[in-house]
Amino acid sequence: MVFLDACRGKPTPYTPVWLMRQAGRYQPEYRAIREKVSFLELCKSPDLAAEVTVLAAEQLGADAGIIFADILLVLEPLNIGFSFEKGDGPKIHEPVRTAAQVDGVAESIDAEASLGYVLEAIRRTKKDLKVPLIGFAGAPFTLASYAIEGGGSKNYYATKRLMFGDPGLFRVLMEKLTTAIIDYLNAQIRAGADAVQLFDSWVGCLSEHDYRTHVLPHVRRIFESLDRSVPSIHFGTGNPSLYPAMAEAGGDVIGVDWRVDLPTAWDALGAKAMMGNLDPAYILAEGRAMEDEVTRILEGVGPRPGHIFNLGHGIMPEADPARVRALVDHVHEVSARLRG
Ligand code: CP3
Repeated sequence: MVFLDACRGKPTPYTPVWLMRQAGRYQPEYRAIREKVSFLELCKSPDLAAEVTVLAAEQLGADAGIIFADILLVLEPLNIGFSFEKGDGPKIHEPVRTAAQVDGVAESIDAEASLGYVLEAIRRTKKDLKVPLIGFAGAPFTLASYAIEGGGSKNYYATKRLMFGDPGLFRVLMEKLTTAIIDYLNAQIRAGADAVQLFDSWVGCLSEHDYRTHVLPHVRRIFESLDRSVPSIHFGTGNPSLYPAMAEAGGDVIGVDWRVDLPTAWDALGAKAMMGNLDPAYILAEGRAMEDEVTRILEGVGPRPGHIFNLGHGIMPEADPARVRALVDHVHEVSARLRG
């Protein structure tokens, strides 16, 4: 399989491609399903979750699917309740900021019992999907930032206040999240996930020093504890200077955003495989800017094996599905020509 070979740094006849958030609101079929069920109902219905996962991968001609779920689902069995408010994104009911609140977070989870709907969605997806399936979890810092802030944030002051002001308490929360993430990801692998991705979407707000002190040890424990039979992807955004430390923490594939030059980052990290890194905004541009940028990225990578093409972050709801499909086709055509 082209995607799994690339994850292992093996040569492939063309560059595999999948897109973060490839199942979502830019698709009319997704919006039609969402008119009937809420986002969380969709996540918790294995048949529907499998359907949207397979539909997105097939419509795009992607080389991998990603199970339809959300990084926040693991918070529920940890006793961190949340909901999705219409139009506002996620809202944590009681942000976790005090010692008593951290104490109330569960020490561990039983993934089979509490997140069985995701595992069942993986099993059902595997029956229909013709390409490998990626499982995923949020990384402990990104999850901690939601738990502490109570939702999305611009500056992460509440998170940093706890991290800097009471590092011991912050560590306890990170350890609980880390233990749950390990159990959840290994359960996804047992259910049939062919690869797993750790999303550290908001870690870029940290300095390298603070990342190394407060985050890296936990992320390293995750990668050391994962079932090694499937490849792992370690993805982060926002702060190029963190990538060397992230690569040290682990992951077979390092996923980067558009703020770095991919070949330069690749050489600096000495990684076996890299994922990235088109700015998703190119999808919205008129003319052939997107195609030209895809070609530029592929030419920059050149013949080295181990490139998985992706966006630097998720697709936006405004994207035109025809342009998204054109992106995937262009990656396949140009890379086959460059490699052939
Ligand atoms: O990539 C995929 O196709 C798989 C599905 C997936 C979703 N969320 C579906 C989703 C994945 C991998 C995620 C991860 C996720 N969720 C992240 C990390 C990735 C990233 O973008 O950095 C984060 C930070 C979240 C948390 C989250 N979920 C937010 C902030 C929001 C609201 C913002 C928004 O786009 O509305 C969600 C909701 C969400 N997760 C949607 C989807 C398709 C939109 C829900 C809807 O209204 O239908």
